[in-house]
Amino acid sequence: MVSSSGTHELLVYRLRGLPLESHGSPDHIPEELLKDDDRFYRIPVGGRPMGIAMAGDDCTVYVANYLEDAVQVVDLEKRELIRTIHLGGPQAPSLARQGEAIFYDARRSLDQWYSCHSCHDHGGSNDKPMDTRNDGNLPFTFKAVPPLYNIRQTAPWTWHGWQEDFHAAMHKSLTETMLGPEPTVDDAEALAAFLDTLQPPPNPFRNPDGSLTESAQRGEAVFHSEKAGCANCHNGPYFTDGQIHDVGLGAPGDRYRGFNTPSLLSVYRKTHILHDGRSETLRQALTGPHNPKRVF
Ligand code: HEC
Ligand code: HEC
Repeated sequence: MVSSSGTHELLVYRLRGLPLESHGSPDHIPEELLKDDDRFYRIPVGGRPMGIAMAGDDCTVYVANYLEDAVQVVDLEKRELIRTIHLGGPQAPSLARQGEAIFYDARRSLDQWYSCHSCHDHGGSNDKPMDTRNDGNLPFTFKAVPPLYNIRQTAPWTWHGWQEDFHAAMHKSLTETMLGPEPTVDDAEALAAFLDTLQPPPNPFRNPDGSLTESAQRGEAVFHSEKAGCANCHNGPYFTDGQIHDVGLGAPGDRYRGFNTPSLLSVYRKTHILHDGRSETLRQALTGPHNPKRVF
């Protein structure tokens, strides 16, 4: 049994003989399995089911449901949810909480395969550049997934920086990246309100009190020095000037010229650096394709 948090259900199956390799329906679950409810069935529970634990009777399942803010009790014999124990959260979800539900909702995508969270892991990045066609180029021009912290404050949007309307960016993500249903204006508002709440995790390279280590202080001095010139473009609270610069990394077929200076907050967490993820470490990027000599 697994909790399928994006589709809001428990999936219960017999592992033996499960035809995992093949697929044949919008669910990527073979038709024969969908029709065989001895081997496979689903129990809808709503919200975002996460952890599950089986009671000693091998029949009662406890589900930690994050968005419902509840522990749910499921009866496997009846194949249904029999009780929801609310944990005392607010009665009506806030706008941001409604947006959070959209962010983690696979039903907003083509055939419920994925959600915003599949690429923007908990609002951050992931380890795989993706092709969202947001660059206006032909298919197979993969882009590193940008983290969404402070996103409303760091206009313009997309790597090339052609997108200047934040709500249009929400709309396009829902309808074109996700290939999902047309959102309402309220959906886009809620999603934006949720993104406003995102915070990067604490940086483990800082001292425990948040101050810079000695080597980081040396790096800060270099960063702000005229010689390195980083702060000419990466400046302000989010280390971006919000401008588009040609730093010599475009490709001949690009629809847009130059790139939008990316925010550098939490960049240490990335496993793919620069717009196409061509560098795997900051050292590689800063000694190779984005070294100060190449930038100017
Ligand atoms: C298939 C992976 C994928 C999914 C799913 C996805 N995104 Fe993205 N997102 C990307 C990539 C890749 C980019 C960068 C594209 C570019 O700039 O050309 C991006 C860019 C963005 C940007 C602009 C970021 C910036 O720094 O300018 C926003 C905002 C955004 N996505 C929000 C969302 C939201 C909200 C959802 C869900 C509705 C979503 N994305 C779903 C991969 C994804
Ligand atoms: C002329 C403006 C400019 C200067 C100067 C500049 N950058 Fe950048 N920086 C950019 C742009 C534009 C990009 C995006 C390029 C791309 O992804 O192809 C970028 C990308 C980066 C990235 C990758 C971010 C990510 O999310 O993948 C890092 C790290 C970075 N810069 C650090 C620096 C440092 C350190 C310096 C100084 C040594 C510096 N930059 C100087 C404009 C600049």
